[in-house]
Amino acid sequence: MIKSITIEDFRNHKKQQTKFACLTAYDASLSELMSKAGVELILVGDSLGMVVQGHDSTIPVSMEDLLYHLRCVKRGNLGSHIMADMPFMSYATENLAYDNAMRLMQAGANSVKVEGGEWILKTTELLSQRGIPVCAHLGLTPQSINRLGGYYVQGRDLEDKNRILSEAKQLENAGAEIILLECVPASLAEEISSSLKIPTIGIGAGSATDGQIMVCYDAIGAYSWDDQPQPKFVKNFMNESNSIFEAFEKYVSEVKSSKFPSADHSF
Ligand code: KIV
Repeated sequence: MIKSITIEDFRNHKKQQTKFACLTAYDASLSELMSKAGVELILVGDSLGMVVQGHDSTIPVSMEDLLYHLRCVKRGNLGSHIMADMPFMSYATENLAYDNAMRLMQAGANSVKVEGGEWILKTTELLSQRGIPVCAHLGLTPQSINRLGGYYVQGRDLEDKNRILSEAKQLENAGAEIILLECVPASLAEEISSSLKIPTIGIGAGSATDGQIMVCYDAIGAYSWDDQPQPKFVKNFMNESNSIFEAFEKYVSEVKSSKFPSADHSF
């Protein structure tokens, strides 16, 4: 991959109804392999708290941790769009959001991701007006795990479904460039994706979103699910590959051809 991928490319995917593949990365070696394999968006996710640091949630991840891994990913990247997660409480107020989004962009991010619905509308608007592309993460928002009570599918009942749909529309109006939907019924993700002009990315949200994302350790079978059941949306692409690079290529090809996720990986 030579040309750098921009937000415009994701908009074009939406217009042309073609899919794009995204993965998380935390280091230079895997981000380079991903870029070469055609992964268009690399998320430096706060999932690093679980898969790299061994915590049981994303809550302990700090800005310094995120910046460290972002710089590593940036060094390996060959042109994929780099999105950086804003860690727990790093955007709790508008001033914090300004300072921390600035630090992430100056360290090499091309966009930032924030979790939440109505309460992040103002932040989304302010960051976007100042030139920072924002991805808003809806559905299962892991930074709220203590309020949600567990890693459960969101948007199953009518009230919750309507709330998530309405928040997605409001976030689009506030200037969000991408909506990421985690663990919501496929039918809800389809309704949101077809109602919005901006692209959507799904994880455990069925096949109708414009892009798909997975935690890279899940895609290569490097995370042990011994303590908890493996989520339905996880697929180990190493099972049919001879190398990590091949597994990434297979992931990209299955996302682009809509083979992954199948109904077996959806709610
Ligand atoms: O941090 C992360 O890896 C994420 C993905 C689950 C989308 O937010």
